[in-house]
Amino acid sequence: QEEIILDFKDYIRVIPDFPQPGISFKDITTLLKDGEMYRKAINELKVMVSDLKIDVIAGPEARGFVVGAPLAYALGVGFAPIRKSGKLPGETIEVGYDLEYGKDTLAMHTDAIEKGQNVLIADDLLATGGTIATSINLIEQLGGKIVGAAFLIELSDLNGRAKLPGIDVFTLMNY
Ligand code: PRP
Ligand code: MG
Repeated sequence: QEEIILDFKDYIRVIPDFPQPGISFKDITTLLKDGEMYRKAINELKVMVSDLKIDVIAGPEARGFVVGAPLAYALGVGFAPIRKSGKLPGETIEVGYDLEYGKDTLAMHTDAIEKGQNVLIADDLLATGGTIATSINLIEQLGGKIVGAAFLIELSDLNGRAKLPGIDVFTLMNY
C-alpha cells in the first residue's frame, strides 16, 4: 500500500507560492499527462469505492471533472457536473463558498440528481474542504444521498475531513 502511495506522489509536481505566497500547489498535470499513471490512479480509486452502491458521481469543475468523469465511466454510472456560477444553461441551485484562496459560487442543475440517488463526490484535492462542503450542500438540496468522497490528494493539515462528518473519504495521496 505504501509503495502505491509513493508511486503516485512521484508524478505530482509541487510548486511553492502558487497561486499566492504560502500556498504549496500540488500540480496534477504531471500525473495526468502520463497515460499509464492516470489510468492507474483512476483504477485505484475505482477499487477503493467498489463496495459502495453508487448511482451517480458528482464532481466540481474544473479539476473534479478529470477525476470524476473517468471514474464514472469506469464504474458505468452517470456524471453530474458541479459548475461555477453562470455556466449551466438549465434551472440551477447555487451556493456561495470560501476556498483555500478566494471566493466562488457553485451551481448544479436541479435535475442533475434524482431524489434518493446515491452520490459519490469526486475531486482532485481535499484542502480546506470548502469546495466539497458546498458540493454536499448542493447535492443534499437535490435530495441526493452522499455515499462517499474520492480524491487524488488530501492536504491533511487543513483538516478538510472535518467538513465531511460521517462520510467515507478515499484518497490516493496525503500531504
Ligand atoms: C481546487 C481543487 C479543489 C479545491 C480544494 O479547485 O481543485 O476543487 O480547490 O480546495 P478546498 O478543499 O479548500 O475547497 P479550484 O477552486 O482552485 O478550481 P479548479 O478546480 O477549477 O482549478
Ligand atoms: Mg477544483
